[in-house]
Amino acid sequence: MKLKKKIKIAIDSPAAAGAGTQAKLISKHFNLLYLDTGKIYRLIANIKLTQANRYSHSLIKKKMLKLTMKDLQNKKLLSDEVGTMASIISKDKKIRKLVHAFQIKSAYHPPKKYNGSCLDGRDITYKIIPNADFKFFITANTKTRALRRYKELKDLNKKISFNEVLKSIKNRDKSDYNRKVSPLMRTRDSILINTTNLTKRSCFLKIKQIIDRKLKA
Ligand code: C5P
Repeated sequence: MKLKKKIKIAIDSPAAAGAGTQAKLISKHFNLLYLDTGKIYRLIANIKLTQANRYSHSLIKKKMLKLTMKDLQNKKLLSDEVGTMASIISKDKKIRKLVHAFQIKSAYHPPKKYNGSCLDGRDITYKIIPNADFKFFITANTKTRALRRYKELKDLNKKISFNEVLKSIKNRDKSDYNRKVSPLMRTRDSILINTTNLTKRSCFLKIKQIIDRKLKA
C-alpha cells in the first residue's frame, strides 16, 4: 500500500497499556517505520545494570551514535528490572538529549520504502513529533496493565508475582507522570484510546478507522 503523502504518528502511553502492540499493528498495516522509544531507554538501563562502573554520558553518547534498530531487539531489555531502571535513567536530561537524534531521524527521515513513521513513548506527542499527523494517548486501568505485563513476563519465563508487577507499574506511573523532565501527559490534540475493555483487534480497528477517515478527507 502506498499513501499519497508520508505520515507521522505519535503515541504516548503509560507502561503496559498496549501501545506497543497497537503501534506495531498500525505500522505494519500502513507500512510505517516503527520505533519503540522505550527500548532505547531500556538499552541504556541495561548498560547501567550490567556495566555500572563503565556507565557514563560519554559511553552512552558513543553507543547512541552506533545505535541500530537491531540493538533494540535484545530480549534482555524486556525484563521488569530493566524497565524500572529505564524509568530512573530517563529522568536524566543529558541522557534524553543523547537519545533525541535517533528518534528524530526515525520520525522525520525513515527509509524511502516506508510511508512514514510511528513512534511510541512518553514525550513523543509534544517533544519528539509535535507536528505529527496523528497523535494518540493510549491507556488502560492499572490492574489491566499489570495483568497484561504479568502475562508477558510469564511467557518469557521471568520469575515474578502479579503483586510485584502491579507495584512496579504503579511506581513507574508515579515517576513517569510526575518527573520534571519530559513527563508523561496527554496533550490536548491527542486522541484518547482506552484499551481496558477492548480486544487487540477492536482497538486496532478503532485506531485504523481514525487514520483512514483523516487520510480520505
Ligand atoms: O515503554 P517502556 O515501558 O519500555 O519504557 C521504559 C521506561 O522508559 C518508561 O517507564 C519511561 O520512564 C522511559 N521512557 C521515557 N520516554 C520515552 C519512552 C520511555 O522516559 N519516550
